[in-house]
Amino acid sequence: MSEPLFDRVAIIGLGLIGGSLAAAMRARGLARTVVAGSRSERTLERGKLLGLIDDGSTDLAEAVKGADLVFLAVPVSSMADTMARMAPGLGNSVIITDGGSVKGKVIAAAKQSIPQHISRFVPGHPIAGKEKSGVDAADAGLYEKHRVILTPTSATDPAASARIRALWTAVGAEVLSMDPDEHDRVLAETSHLPHLLAFSLVDTLARQGDSLDIFRYAAGGFRDFTRIASSDPLMWHDIFRENRDSVLQAVDLFQAGLARFREAVEQGDSESLLAIMTRANSARAHFLALSARTSYTRALSLNDDKVSDKTAMSNSASAGHGRRVEFHLQPGGALNGSLRVPGDKSISHRSIMLGALADGVTEIEGFLEGEDALATLQAFRDMGVVIEGPSAGRVRVHGVGLHGLKAPNGTLYMGNSGTSMRLLMGLLSGQPFSTELTGDESLTRRPMERVAKPLREMGAEIATTGKGTPPVHIRGNRQLKGIHYDLPVASAQVKSAILLAGLYADGETSVTEPAPTRDHTERMLTGFGYPVIRDGATSKVVGGGKLSACNLEVPADISSAAFFLVGASIAPGSELLLRHVGINPTRTGIIDILKLMGADITLENQRDAGGEPVADIRVRSARLKGITIPEELVPLAIDEFPVLFVAAANAEGETILHGAEELRVKESDRIQVMADGLTTLGIENEVYADGIRIRGGQYGGGEVQAHGDHRIAMSFAIASLRATAPILIHDCANVATSFPGFAELASAAGLNLTVVQG
Ligand code: S3P
Repeated sequence: MSEPLFDRVAIIGLGLIGGSLAAAMRARGLARTVVAGSRSERTLERGKLLGLIDDGSTDLAEAVKGADLVFLAVPVSSMADTMARMAPGLGNSVIITDGGSVKGKVIAAAKQSIPQHISRFVPGHPIAGKEKSGVDAADAGLYEKHRVILTPTSATDPAASARIRALWTAVGAEVLSMDPDEHDRVLAETSHLPHLLAFSLVDTLARQGDSLDIFRYAAGGFRDFTRIASSDPLMWHDIFRENRDSVLQAVDLFQAGLARFREAVEQGDSESLLAIMTRANSARAHFLALSARTSYTRALSLNDDKVSDKTAMSNSASAGHGRRVEFHLQPGGALNGSLRVPGDKSISHRSIMLGALADGVTEIEGFLEGEDALATLQAFRDMGVVIEGPSAGRVRVHGVGLHGLKAPNGTLYMGNSGTSMRLLMGLLSGQPFSTELTGDESLTRRPMERVAKPLREMGAEIATTGKGTPPVHIRGNRQLKGIHYDLPVASAQVKSAILLAGLYADGETSVTEPAPTRDHTERMLTGFGYPVIRDGATSKVVGGGKLSACNLEVPADISSAAFFLVGASIAPGSELLLRHVGINPTRTGIIDILKLMGADITLENQRDAGGEPVADIRVRSARLKGITIPEELVPLAIDEFPVLFVAAANAEGETILHGAEELRVKESDRIQVMADGLTTLGIENEVYADGIRIRGGQYGGGEVQAHGDHRIAMSFAIASLRATAPILIHDCANVATSFPGFAELASAAGLNLTVVQG
């Protein structure tokens, strides 16, 4: 029980919405007395009988007498009249709120009928309901985990808003604030339009000759789509009338979309049909992810009742669909064959970003359809860029030019992807509109000040949380000026963010790095015809140029190939050919380190793929020995350390790593999380602030935690090749961020992996 927030609460209109708030307040002890006003004696009697209210009156002025809170839960069309009837009974300090689903009309009604109370009127809209209505449907849990939108006006006293916010929070709801017009427009599109379509579709088909026959054969799709046509016709009649203008706009918008779809069907235009539907798929995943604050594929699965509880090796499971994905590994095996891992993550991100900022259409092949790159793709769609695909790694980006991005409608959601967030911070600092960036649980713990600080020096206005973490707010319309920046940490993300901001800055922007980091941004800018002056450790751009669309081929990701390089090295009897892998010298630290450990790796068929060097890599098993990893190789293998630790666990003697404190702020604290897992398996190790010491040896099996970190999950999967007992890895869904299809590919090569989701 909580402390009562209000002394006497009057609920006007005791249907589902009003009755449920009464029930919730009573269940939590939030009001000393709850009374109701209703036109119907019977409803008041039922309310008392059900224990929802202490008392009630059909005289509304009587009902609100002495109340310190009034909640109006009547149809929007009767708000003005209801307010006028209760007005004579309202006290001088009463706070009034409502649950109407159209705010413009309710605010107008309040101005007209209760003008002297307007500063204490807090318009609100709980987004919750049921198909049943009436007092008997009242439910104390109706608002739990649901959203309530408050739409205070300039006249609303913030103290009154705060009390209503506290009320909804206390009944378990999540409270948001919005401008009233914005509310009516957004609701027209996301709620009123779908209801209108559902009512209309059922009615249209029902009026066909043999409608009963049609419905007899109606499958799940029809049932799902039309479920909301069972909602209360009276209430919806009201909403369509009261929110007329916004509903009409939404219908027009939809009609235009429908016409485009019709045209594509008529013309048999596969490209357009696929473009529409893939866009819709990813937009839906995006929206589900945003509301669940989780990764895309996890969000998809939250809504996927087709996924069975225990799906061994199913497509969807290994792609990361599923709330909880576990990897179960049998020990032993060898890796053999020829395979191509998915596209490079860093290059995929940049291909979307630069393609969007270019003039003309950029065609991308080999794009990584993993969640991180999809987060970037979605962000640019949110900023008005037309992007076709991805479909089998092909993407067409219709560039809008350096100054063509549009303000997104809401927060940009970056999922698990640090690269998306940090690079976008640079790029968005130069836009004429403001933005907010957020991400999943892991990303919202990661440091963003390292990027914000130099961008502020350029004139950007950026806010992070007190801990320097997301959400990140970027103020638009700031004129940036070029700076020189000496990077305190070797970070390609910080370097890239500054260079991208430099495209929008006056004069020269240059960055000097303490050690070489991946240079994909510099190479790709050059490929798009934007000059980058490179002089030793310094890269420089001059603002105000332009990018021209080009065709890009994304090489296979050496960071994904790394799992197979280590796996084939440690598992006796292995020989793998990894095709078309990017071997940019700023990324090949993994090969250098493995070779120092004695690995048998050769590069074949070296060639250039659109400005990036690629090769086929042959790897055969070898006896590895422990080494002290040269510190200058650390930035060149920064993402590969989890799997390098597995190599170290299988090497003779000790491997020592220093100078790698960056690993502690990746998707997880990769030093500690790997150390914990290795200890579980029985591998001796010692953790340093900036690294680790690992003594190679024989190990057993056990249960380890991936902590939602894709590279930790895949690393321990590889460790099974030399384990002597099964390994169970928890929390593996995020493998889909960088390596969709890992389970299939690794199993085909010889790993004894079963994906289980529950
Ligand atoms: C990346 C740079 C690296 C790397 C990340 C991708 C990039 O991060 O770890 O996975 O695409 O620029 P830092 O620049 O923070 O080291």
